[in-house]
Amino acid sequence: MSRPVDAFSFGAVVVGNRWQMTSVATQSVAELGGPHSVLVRQQRDHIELDRLINATDASRGHRRQELLTRLFRLVFPHAFAEESVLWPAIRRWVPEGERLTLEIEREHQQINELFARLETLPPDTAEHRELWQRLVRLLREDVRDEEDRLLPMLQRGVSRRRWCSSVGRGQRCDGAHPPGAPGRGAAPAR
Ligand SMILES: [Fe+2]
Ligand SMILES: [Fe+2]
Repeated sequence: MSRPVDAFSFGAVVVGNRWQMTSVATQSVAELGGPHSVLVRQQRDHIELDRLINATDASRGHRRQELLTRLFRLVFPHAFAEESVLWPAIRRWVPEGERLTLEIEREHQQINELFARLETLPPDTAEHRELWQRLVRLLREDVRDEEDRLLPMLQRGVSRRRWCSSVGRGQRCDGAHPPGAPGRGAAPAR
């Protein structure tokens, strides 16, 4: 089978006769561009997010409120980094990036609104629990959209040279960065 032009891209594997994207959730640190990569930070934040959701779910009263505050402090800078660093690159290099990032920004906005409403409610009320369930659904959808679709699309859409000069700015670019896989050479410059 002949390889497509982006055969060296991260985030792509051959399944049968077709190239399929690999979720960022299952890629190694090297595949994500090394320990300083913004994608590694994304993956790590999402793991911590999952841990805090489960802990909040299992808690009550003051402890629940405390965990919600920690969740809030994780989610907001995380979303800000996505919107200010990754989305501009996706809009530039991913077909339909404009529409896709707009969808995620709407999810982020809904998440913000739910957090704001939850802050005004006592943590053990039925209303709080109902809003919490909606928030958890949205947070999990947001992670899936990013890890399974948007970020692998970005990995495939951007060359290593461009990655280093824009998305990966400030990172060490001497190792593997999307989309140049270790041992498989660099992607063609675009
Ligand atoms: Fe997000
Ligand atoms: Fe995220």
